[in-house]
This record gives sequence, C-alpha cells and structure tokens, in this order.
Amino acid sequence: MNTVSTPTAIKPVDFNTYEKVDGSLVFPELYSKGEVQITRRKFRHQNCVDSNPDYIADEMLLRRALAWWFGLPDPLGFAGETGSGKTELFYYIADKLNEPVYLLQVNGGLMPEMVEGKTSLAQGETVDEMGVVPHAYKHGGLILLDEVDKANKALQSWLHPVLERKPLSLSLTGELIMCHDQTRVGLTANTFGQGGSERYSSSNKLDDALRARPGWLTVKYPEPSVLRNIMAKKFSMIPAGFRKKMCQVALEVQKVTENEDSELSAIFSTRTLVKWGQTMVAFGLNAKVEESLDFVSRGACDPDDWESLQAIYQRILGEDKSSTVGDVLKKYTPVKK
Ligand SMILES: Nc1ncnc2c1ncn2[C@@H]1O[C@H](COP(=O)(O)OP(=O)(O)O)[C@@H](O)[C@H]1O
Ligand SMILES: [Mg+2]
Repeated sequence: MNTVSTPTAIKPVDFNTYEKVDGSLVFPELYSKGEVQITRRKFRHQNCVDSNPDYIADEMLLRRALAWWFGLPDPLGFAGETGSGKTELFYYIADKLNEPVYLLQVNGGLMPEMVEGKTSLAQGETVDEMGVVPHAYKHGGLILLDEVDKANKALQSWLHPVLERKPLSLSLTGELIMCHDQTRVGLTANTFGQGGSERYSSSNKLDDALRARPGWLTVKYPEPSVLRNIMAKKFSMIPAGFRKKMCQVALEVQKVTENEDSELSAIFSTRTLVKWGQTMVAFGLNAKVEESLDFVSRGACDPDDWESLQAIYQRILGEDKSSTVGDVLKKYTPVKK
C-alpha cells in the first residue's frame, strides 16, 4: 500500500519553556542523584554556545554563581587575572542550563550607538537591526559584558539602565524596551573598576554607580589539584609526572607575580599553561621543551624580566628544560613491568 505523507505543520518552538531536571544530570560535580532539582530551558536556542568540554569549574565559585543565577536580580561580575577562566565559566553555566548567550566584547572604542544596533539596507529599504544587548534585554538570555572595565565613559553611562533592569531607551529606533524576566547580566573584568592598574593598563575607572551595582566574585587561578586535573583531561598523552612539572612552572610564576608590585612583570595563566601543552604537542618530539615554553610566554613577560623568568623555568625544570620532548616523555613514562 502506498502511504502518502501529509506535510505536518512544524510548530514553532517556544524557547521560554522550562523543565525541571535532576541536578546531578546538569552539574554532576556538585550534586548527587536526588539532591536538587534544577530548572532550565527545555530547548536550545540558536544562541546557545557549546562550552569548553574540558572546563573544570571551581566548586565554590560555581556554587556561588548558581546561587546568583537562581536567586539574585543584580548583575554578577567575575573579576580576576587574564586567563583565569572568567569568560569560560559564564559559558559553562549557560551551556548547562541551555541559556542563550549574548556577548558584548567591550573595548575602549566601543560606543553606545554601536551597541544599540545598526541600520542596514535590504531590498532598497532601510531596516534597523537591534544589537545583541538590547535584543537579550528585551527577550531574555545571558548578556555577557566581557572585559567591562575597558568601557569608556559614554558606554558606562549607557550601561546604567541595563545593570539596573530599568527601561532602556534606544536612540536608534526611539523604542523604549523593558527588561525581560529571564534576562541576566554577567560581567568579567581584570579589575574591580578602580582604575590605575599597572598590569591592566587599558582597564578604566568605572563610575561608582556602575561598580557598585553588580555583586563581584573574585576568580583566582585554579588550585594545584584542579590545575593538574585540567591538564590531565586535556593532555593524557603527556605522562603525569611531567604534567605535574608543567603545572609547577605555572604555579611558581603565579606565586612570584601575585602582587601587582612584584619584581617580576609576567603572566603565566591557565590559558598560558594550556597553550604550552598544545604547542608542545604541535612542535613534536624533536623540539626542546623550552621552545614551546618560550613560544607561549615570551609575549606575556616584560623584556627586562625575561632572564628572571628563565631562571624560574630552570629551577623547576632542571635538565628537562633543554631536553627534547621525546626524551622527556620517555623519562617520565612509567616502565611497564
Ligand atoms: N577551569 C578551567 N578549566 C579548563 N580550562 C581552563 C580553566 N580556566 C582557564 N582555562 C583555560 O584558559 C583559557 C582562558 O580562559 P578564559 O575564560 O578565556 O579566561 P579569562 O576570561 O579569565 O581571561 C581557556 O580557553 C582554557 O583553555
Ligand atoms: Mg575573558
């Protein structure tokens, strides 16, 4: 018998549908089965972003961030050194909760009119297209104001109503938009917006109202055990003994440079460490360990301090520093009995 398929009308998905799921399915690192129920969006919107599958969230930070997510209306800011995992933590949480992300990459030249949207020409007609921030303000989702302490004065003023969930007036269209219930505002910054940072010279002083509105959590570089887990997850091909040494290099530089007025002006972040692993693998077995190390850290060190940084590398790595990766892998691979 021939079957004739009748076209079924595709029902549009309502992205504002929520479901309750067992917490252990969403954040297995925090919750055991039956412990909590988590409310999240049922469907993934096109603005959902797949987060780094190797991201390992700091447990306490994640707990506090979730407490904010589910209970507090004011914005949340993550402040900390570059490469400490601030931006990726927002992506991680949003991804798990099927929340669309609307990223605004802030820089000193970004003006309000660029954020509001743009007018373009389509089939001979001009159309106003709302920018991502007004769009998410009106329709819900996570607005991520990344590197917000780079904002200039004009943008800072424009952001006030957004941070306060007040009506937002768009000069582009003349429209007045209200804050959606499901709008959340996340911020990342290298500073708390106090200005005058020597290390982060493009960080501006944020006006008091802007600084005071969000709740801030400090994001520190991961603890040694977490760092080793991050590296183990990403670089199973590097023997554990040598991965540990690599982590020690990062931790030692981080310790020495902890204070902004430290003698050594260098940054060795989680990002740098991950890049070192990737570069080591890419350069191959015949390259020396120091080649990949220098490659990833040269640009994050004041030229005057390069020798002091090398001295730290030497102290931690010893003869491994100038050995080839092939030899080091052999040395650290446990002999099978
Ligand atoms: N907790 C973590 N787990 C896994 N990788 C991390 C973590 N924190 C940082 N990284 C690595 O560092 C990189 C930089 O993270 P990112 O969130 O962009 O830093 P920030 O926004 O603080 O400058 C990531 O792409 C990842 O490779
Ligand atoms: Mg970032």
